[in-house]
Amino acid sequence: MMEYIRQENKADFNDVFKVHQLAFGQDNEANLVDLLRHSNAFIPELSLVATFETKVVGHILFTKIKIINDYKSITESLALAPMAVRPDFQNKGIGGQLINHGLKIAKELRYKSVIVLGHKDYYPKFGFEPTTKWNIKSPFSISDTGNFMGIELIADGLKNAVGMVKYPDEFEML
Ligand SMILES: CC(C)(COP(=O)(O)OP(=O)(O)OC[C@H]1O[C@@H](n2cnc3c(N)ncnc32)[C@H](O)[C@@H]1OP(=O)(O)O)[C@@H](O)C(=O)NCCC(=O)NCCS
Repeated sequence: MMEYIRQENKADFNDVFKVHQLAFGQDNEANLVDLLRHSNAFIPELSLVATFETKVVGHILFTKIKIINDYKSITESLALAPMAVRPDFQNKGIGGQLINHGLKIAKELRYKSVIVLGHKDYYPKFGFEPTTKWNIKSPFSISDTGNFMGIELIADGLKNAVGMVKYPDEFEML
């Protein structure tokens, strides 16, 4: 199957909403994407769609976050969230293509790292490791800390980033 990954544009907004709605079985993530587009944390080049025969079948978003510690040192990073592939197109590698493409663009834009809260059996395939490695904590209470992961886009991209992740306020509605 041939999919094509590109930056989303205005004409995709409705389809992107539907992809999240279908994949998550609720509106929360779809609404979050709509809110994040108006946020300072939004990076247009890192809101990507996967298309099949001109139809939008997947979407991934990376937004700006900060990792903050008690010494008030701040490290800029990115959050991978949310991402979704239409249920009838899942398990064909589209999610993987969206992640790899997004990481490549993030690197080109000189971002040093990406953080994700997700399935610990999925993201390590793309190089993510539990953030316990760098002593980076999630602001959310999560049952398994192994699901909170990070990846360095350059050598030592998270080396001195110890602290807690501060997500854009829009995430609080989730
Ligand atoms: C997660 C998601 C984006 C993956 O998209 P996809 O196109 O199906 O992903 P790929 O085809 O690249 O990869 C599929 C792999 O993910 C695995 N996978 C899918 N859902 C999983 C889950 N909940 N837990 C663990 N692994 C999972 C599959 O087993 C498969 O593994 P394999 O490559 O070893 O066979 C898609 O399943 C989805 O939209 N899910 C609902 C929304 C969601 O949970 N989003 C992620 C949280 S923000």
